[in-house]
Amino acid sequence: MSAALPNVLVVAGARPNFIKVAPIMAELERRAMPSYLLHTGQHYSAEMSQLIFRDLGMREPDRNLAAGSGSHARQTAGVMQAFEPVLLEVRPRWVVVVGDVNSTLACALVAAKLREEVACGIAHVEAGLRSFDWRMPEEVNRVLTDRLSDLLLTPSREAHANLAREGIEDARVVFAGNVMIDTLYRQLDAARALGVARKAGVDQPYVAVTLHRPSNVDSAETLRPILEGLTEVARHTRIVFPMHPRTRERVEALGLESAIAPFTVLPPLGYLEMLSLTDGASAVLTDSGGLQEETTVLGVPCVTLREQTERPSTVSEGTNRLTRWPPTPEGIMESYRSAMAAGRQPLGARAPEGWDGATARRIVDALVERA
Ligand code: UD1
Repeated sequence: MSAALPNVLVVAGARPNFIKVAPIMAELERRAMPSYLLHTGQHYSAEMSQLIFRDLGMREPDRNLAAGSGSHARQTAGVMQAFEPVLLEVRPRWVVVVGDVNSTLACALVAAKLREEVACGIAHVEAGLRSFDWRMPEEVNRVLTDRLSDLLLTPSREAHANLAREGIEDARVVFAGNVMIDTLYRQLDAARALGVARKAGVDQPYVAVTLHRPSNVDSAETLRPILEGLTEVARHTRIVFPMHPRTRERVEALGLESAIAPFTVLPPLGYLEMLSLTDGASAVLTDSGGLQEETTVLGVPCVTLREQTERPSTVSEGTNRLTRWPPTPEGIMESYRSAMAAGRQPLGARAPEGWDGATARRIVDALVERA
């Protein structure tokens, strides 16, 4: 390996990845370690990609594979085919993959097959999370990425138990903490200065809602009772709903436009705007994993609109609760009431261990120690 070539190749594909990668890139740059930022292009719309990069102050990617949307097989295979020659050219010591999106697994799989030839290791940030629901594409991505990785960097202690149960040796596992929270602490003041709700014409207390999981939005059978439950909630408070492109498409295809009429619907928001909206909310109702974590640290009550969560510490130690499943308007109302009764907690008061803003440092320490 030539000393002039980049040492750590960091993969980012979809919106939640960018938020996890930003502090790692900043830490690599702070230590003047050679790095190569690879964007797979899984997310490509301005508001899903470029605006997030801008908000996070990240440099332009060194390469964009422009993989785009498609079925799981098409998208995963597209990333794999495009990544293989890049890996052979860059020859990093580490391939760092984060989270659980299709790009994460695709790049881990390519690197695993070239591990000997390139002499690289695979490091997985956010290892060990499990929903135990194999119907979720993310669960497949998580389990397989962990199996393929040489260094498993976990965000919480329960992740270690999950990995041990699967027979993954302890020596490959390092507790790192939650890297998303590094970004949150770094950006909170800037987000607070934005006043996004006020700018959207919302002056009263509000609940922020996001939905994008295929299991929630793809069929009317689930989407309809969720929207009915939210309509009930909207009788008590304003609902502000930044809408993911997948959800927008499904609402239109299923003819549910009238069901979203009571809500203040916004386009997908940049990172800072979303953090501003979350921080200003009385409660958040969501199926996003990242929001379950961010609300916990912010102290904002959260209702998770899913059957289970791969982030149980947000329930046991944080401000999160799962709604009854399958979703019903009554169940969603009951969860909303419980969230409102819990009320806001001070910033960081209920944060699990290692959700402290210093995770990127621990991640890069581990990369250096095991290089
Ligand atoms: C992906 C991740 C999911 C993550 C989510 C965050 C997988 C399997 N899923 O789901 O874990 O929580 O990102 O957003 O990797 N689209 C656009 N512009 C974009 C990207 C997508 O309009 O920039 C639309 C397209 O119609 C596309 C659809 O959204 O078909 C879904 O995009 P995709 O990346 O396949 O999955 P997400 O639902 O975003």
